[in-house]
Amino acid sequence: MSYEAKFRVWRGDDGSGELTDYTVEVNEGEVVLDIIHRLQATQAPDLAVRWNCKAGKCGSCSAEINGMPKLLCMTRMSTFDPDETVTVTPVRTFPVIRDLVTDVSYNYQKAREIPSFDPGDAGPGELRMQQVDVERSQEFRKCIECFLCQNVCHVIRDHEENKEQFAGPRFLMRIGELEMHPADQADRRNIAQDDHGLGFCNITKCCTEVCPEHIKITDNALIPMKERVVGRKYDPVVWLGSKLGIV
Ligand code: F3S
Repeated sequence: MSYEAKFRVWRGDDGSGELTDYTVEVNEGEVVLDIIHRLQATQAPDLAVRWNCKAGKCGSCSAEINGMPKLLCMTRMSTFDPDETVTVTPVRTFPVIRDLVTDVSYNYQKAREIPSFDPGDAGPGELRMQQVDVERSQEFRKCIECFLCQNVCHVIRDHEENKEQFAGPRFLMRIGELEMHPADQADRRNIAQDDHGLGFCNITKCCTEVCPEHIKITDNALIPMKERVVGRKYDPVVWLGSKLGIV
């Protein structure tokens, strides 16, 4: 069944912009990205949108649909009432380049700042892992880097001034992944707390709620990292051991 949907799309650049109304055809089985593509093909050829795989795996088409951070390609039109106006805006935490496309370079900067996997003296083929450790990090490796978690976290969403000190849930999860890796030799606890702002996270879990891969970012990465940091910082025995260099 086809119908005409009311769409409201943010149009503009880094200087100014406004919501623009469109009426556009919707067909059975379509997702919001299909409608944005139809808009480009029929009414707004200059409408800018970033996308690539259209299968929920590349993490490119992040946007806000009726105010909720979502992937355009994974949001079915059947989830809306046909009479409802569907509002599509760019993710709010990153600067707009044009229309629905934002500058997400903050995330690449944060990724570069995290010290990479440190195998110590182990040579190629010498590392052995228990299956339980493999599975733990595999959950984190499902991340498609859509940055919806980064977009929704209030620490930076409403506070530009925190971006310098806070890496955001995606990259604190990456630090957690490395910290929990049995073969990684680096101590990631101070890196998380002192260099990447783990203390800013007050466990609101918004990041977990919007993850399209359903990664339990808060429960499985951020809270365990906080527990490890607290153990090191405030347990007197651990603290003394760390001073003596034996923990
Ligand atoms: Fe932000 Fe997630 Fe913590 S949304 S405050 S990083 S639990």
